[in-house]
Amino acid sequence: MIISASILSADFARLEAHACEAVDAGVEWLHIDVMDGHFVPNLTFGSLAVDALQSLRQTTGVVLDVHLMISRPDLYIDAFADAGADIITVHVESSCDTGKVLDAIRQRGCRPGLTLNPDTPVASLSEWMGQVEVAMIMSVHPGFAGQVYLPGTDSRILELRRMLDHSGHDTLLEVDGGIKSHNVHRALACGADVVVAGSAIFRGPVQARVAAMRAGMSNAPVAQQDRATAS
Ligand code: DX5
Ligand code: ZN
Repeated sequence: MIISASILSADFARLEAHACEAVDAGVEWLHIDVMDGHFVPNLTFGSLAVDALQSLRQTTGVVLDVHLMISRPDLYIDAFADAGADIITVHVESSCDTGKVLDAIRQRGCRPGLTLNPDTPVASLSEWMGQVEVAMIMSVHPGFAGQVYLPGTDSRILELRRMLDHSGHDTLLEVDGGIKSHNVHRALACGADVVVAGSAIFRGPVQARVAAMRAGMSNAPVAQQDRATAS
C-alpha cells in the first residue's frame, strides 16, 4: 500500500526539509491539499502551492499528488502541471465540466484523479471510471487536517473497490482523511491502494510515525478475509 503524506500538516517554516523527512522514512507520494475558501471553508497555500510544488519537484523524485478542493479547478490545471504535479485530483462537486477537466489534466501529461465528498453517492464516480487513474474516497469532510475518520467510510471504500474491480480498469483507489496507524488496516482491508495521512505523520517524529503506519497495515489480513467472504 502506498502512503501519500499530506504536507498540510507539515511545518511550513521548513516545508521542504519536513517533506523530505517523510520521503526518507519511505512514503511513496506527497499529497498537496489546495483549498480556495469557497469550495471548502479553509484557505491553503494560494499561489504558494505552485511555488511549493515547484521546489518539491526540484528536491524529490516522489510522486506529487495534488488534491484541488477548489470550485474552478479547470482554471489552474496548467499552473499545477507546469509546477510538476504528477497526479491532479479534482472533485465531482466542483463547478466545472468534469469530463473536460479530466481531459485537460491528461493532455498536460498528468494522471487524472477524481474524488467526492462524504455525502455524495459513490455511484457518481462510475461514469468516469475509464478516464481516471486515481479514484479517491474522502473519509472526512474536506477542509481541515486532523479530523476523525467518518464511520460510513468503510462501506464506501468497499463499494468503490467493487466498482473498480468490475470496470476492469487499472485505477488506484485512494482514501483521504483521518487515517492513523490504528485505523489504516480498515482502509486497506476494504480495498484501498493508497492512503493519505497528514497529522498522523507530520505532527510528531516522522520516521517513527511512518513506521507505525506500516506496522498498522499488518492488522489487515483478517479484515481482508472478511471482505472476500462478504463479496
Ligand atoms: C482534508 C485534506 C486531507 C487532510 C488529511 O481536507 O484533503 O488530505 O490533509 O489530513 P489528516 O491525515 O490529518 O486527516
Ligand atoms: Zn487531501
